[in-house]
Amino acid sequence: MPAAVLGKTILLIVGGGIAAFKALELVRELRRAGARVLPVLTENGARFVTPLSLAALAGETVRTSLWDLEDEASMGHIQLSRAADLIVVCPATADLMARAAAGQAGDLASTLLLATDTPVLMVPAMNVRMWLHPATQRNIERLRGDGVRIMPPDDGEMACGEHGPGRLPQVPAIMAAIADQFGDRPLAGRHALVTAGPTHEPIDPVRFIGNRSSGKQGFTIAAALAAAGARVTLVAGPVALPTPAGVGRVDVETARQMQAACAAALPADIAVMVAAVADWRAEAADTKLKKDGSGPPPLILIENPDILAGIGHHQRRPALVVGFAAETGDAVAHATAKRVRKGADWIVANDVSGGVFGSDHTHVQLITAAGAEDWGATPKQAVAERLARRIAAHFSETP
Ligand code: CTP
Repeated sequence: MPAAVLGKTILLIVGGGIAAFKALELVRELRRAGARVLPVLTENGARFVTPLSLAALAGETVRTSLWDLEDEASMGHIQLSRAADLIVVCPATADLMARAAAGQAGDLASTLLLATDTPVLMVPAMNVRMWLHPATQRNIERLRGDGVRIMPPDDGEMACGEHGPGRLPQVPAIMAAIADQFGDRPLAGRHALVTAGPTHEPIDPVRFIGNRSSGKQGFTIAAALAAAGARVTLVAGPVALPTPAGVGRVDVETARQMQAACAAALPADIAVMVAAVADWRAEAADTKLKKDGSGPPPLILIENPDILAGIGHHQRRPALVVGFAAETGDAVAHATAKRVRKGADWIVANDVSGGVFGSDHTHVQLITAAGAEDWGATPKQAVAERLARRIAAHFSETP
């Protein structure tokens, strides 16, 4: 792991939280691993650690102000943010994340975050209620959508005596996340669109038609593509899953909303359509259907748009379009026909004769123009990683 950060320059922004003292240990570990650390301390950060201790450990000048003429003369803040291979914000406070999410530039730290296209890793630490507050969660989604990588905090006893998520992760875990940023990122610079989960089609304001898709497979694929360096837009139907790190998520409910969100996400280099889209929607009633004694109401079904086929035949078709197919019986024959009909390059055919929905395992065949490859019975996580590697290999062969 140390090899990954050897010779790298890391701009470390230390925010104002009780966990700021751990940033000192992080500086020591980074330097031990051979990285150069350029420290920036926010005004509130300086209430928790002194510029002197940070400077002594980093062996560098500590920058604290946007208006320091001496620093501006030697290295302006724009130049400072670009001199780094990675910007790490540790601890990232709720306030600093809110300002970064809003694109504010009122102090040195927020200006650096706005003035750069260097990758950013934020390591949040805060009180559990602040972490769970919808405003913080909204800011996190926004930052992820902007391509910022956010490390989930640890769960446990907090300095304030409360219990729950919000603690700064251990320094070795932060070091691993930093090293991961410098790992093999073959899909860096590519945009991937992924759909996941079911769709819910309303019958009336309280009822819907749905299906058993858990969204697990789509979410693990989104995570694997992000880990391979892609910018990922995950269009998710109603599921109870956390957003994977580094993934921008758009929540939708119906097939038509999913279709609109996919169209809005274009252009993309890669589309992986994993969602179990409802094939039909009901002609929904505006008011709740009542038992009025005349028997069950008729359900008039209308065919939904085929999102995969729409993307597969789109003017701005992604270079690689991958569909999924849930099949029973002759899976290869059905999926092969589906690949052509929907304009996909590949189809990942799942044999759903067993209990795949909601499970962590699946039996997969990859159908390409060259034929079928049996991937056997595999955990969904392994399917995701293998597919991401396969997609990366495709782009390295056809740049
Ligand atoms: N799909 C889609 N939009 C739809 C239906 C399906 O984007 N309205 C996508 C799925 O995300 C998946 C692929 O198409 O990638 C295959 O879906 P599947 O339900 O297996 O195929 P169908 O077209 O519904 O065919 P059939 O029901 O005949 O098996």
